[in-house]
Amino acid sequence: MANVTVNGKSYTVDPNSDASMMDQLKAQGVEIVAACNGAGICQTCAVKVNEGELTEKTETEEMMDLPDGQRLSCQCHPKSEEVDIELVY
Ligand code: FES
Repeated sequence: MANVTVNGKSYTVDPNSDASMMDQLKAQGVEIVAACNGAGICQTCAVKVNEGELTEKTETEEMMDLPDGQRLSCQCHPKSEEVDIELVY
């Protein structure tokens, strides 16, 4: 399990789950906007990574050309035990 801090609050995310980091955080009450419901096209689930490592960018994310340090939370899982992120939207 990884400890993921979102806007200063801590949550637990299973790195091996089929559910994305976004889905797992939403299930714990984090209000992440997900206009495309995790399809990887809307970018509203974007997060800024302050600390820690996430899984490699998916092809979808590579095509998005996100600003440096930002990831789509519907396309990744934590890689390190501690991750600190901020919601962009
Ligand atoms: S929910 Fe739309 S890109 Fe992640």
